[in-house]
Amino acid sequence: MSGFSIVGSGRYLPGRPYTNDDLARVMDTSDEWIRQRTGIEQRHYCPSGQGVSDLAYEASIKAIDSAGLKPTDLDYILFNTMTPDHLFPGSGPLLGARLGLNGVPALDLRAQCAAMLFSFQVADSLLQSGAAKRILIVGAEAHSGFMPWLDWDILEGTNKAAPSAEAWERATRHRGLAIIFGDGAGALIVERSTAPGVGILSMDLHSDGDLVDELLIPVGFRSRPYVSEQCLAEDLIIPRMQGREVFKHAVSKLPQSVRAAVEKAGMTLDDVDWFVGHQANDRINSLVRDRLRLPHEKVPTNIAKYGNTSAATIPILVDEMRRDGRLKAGQTVCYFGLGAGMHWGATVVRT
Ligand code: UT7
Repeated sequence: MSGFSIVGSGRYLPGRPYTNDDLARVMDTSDEWIRQRTGIEQRHYCPSGQGVSDLAYEASIKAIDSAGLKPTDLDYILFNTMTPDHLFPGSGPLLGARLGLNGVPALDLRAQCAAMLFSFQVADSLLQSGAAKRILIVGAEAHSGFMPWLDWDILEGTNKAAPSAEAWERATRHRGLAIIFGDGAGALIVERSTAPGVGILSMDLHSDGDLVDELLIPVGFRSRPYVSEQCLAEDLIIPRMQGREVFKHAVSKLPQSVRAAVEKAGMTLDDVDWFVGHQANDRINSLVRDRLRLPHEKVPTNIAKYGNTSAATIPILVDEMRRDGRLKAGQTVCYFGLGAGMHWGATVVRT
């Protein structure tokens, strides 16, 4: 028993929601296809010029406020994103400076959609070792920067023209990827609790770099220079996702991990109040639920409103559940997720 406790949460979704019909203006897709194959109805995109440190700042302020704290009460930042403001440095120090926490350690973690699970483990270790007393864990994503269209005015509806045949073909080529991701940020504040029974009960975490080709942004520092005309021509700045393969891994590995984490906690699935999963595709979580024979109401979903917000997803969902009263003190939650890396796992936490 670790004494890890979530004492504050916040979320921020930038701008207005963009519907599936909005997307159908720039590529060959439809509201019906997207709803049926993913459960997504809308997503948010941050305006050009905003990045994850800006989104994270808004979510963090709400989290700090909800905990009744001031920024200076925090002594560590864990920043989770796969879409940082800059290739380097990480976005953690930028968030720290925005919060007036200059000098406070800020560490970026890179576990994509499984980010929160890894951050929980790191935060728990920092708290147990005494290296930190109160940690801000943030997940934030600005996926809009890799969307495969340039005609944002056509998507917005402010330009009624049709995209060029070339622009339409390019966006359509990447449509499986483009329709699932949205922008947003979620923030959690964790501290060591002395309340009996509260904390992380088990962890089941995995990474396998042999699966890296199933989801990655191909550009990188193996090339000189790391971005070239050729990279742009070949769209190597846009994530390459083998959607079906990732899907298959998710629906096989996640039920195994959930079972393993619950067993390691010395519990049965029935003992768990909530199964809070990463939201990549509603069909993934429905299959995980069915394979484990979990009651529908124990597996919350919010993908319809936000799409897949990668590292931001779990803290956004936790914030919703804390604020609407679903998540209560004393409950047991199993968090689970899988993402690029490939990283995946589950953890059982008593709140
Ligand atoms: O965030 C963590 C990591 N990511 C994931 O977990 C994503 C996991 N994968 C998925 O969610 C799904 O694989 C996708 C939503 C990405 C794609 O759904 P799918 O059911 O696996 O579709 P598919 O890629 O197998 O494509 C089936 C058909 C294809 O047409 P043909 O070849 O059968 O004629 C695609 O071209 O659906 C077509 N298609 C689309 N049609 C309309 C793919 N995307 C779209 C689209 N609109 N957006």
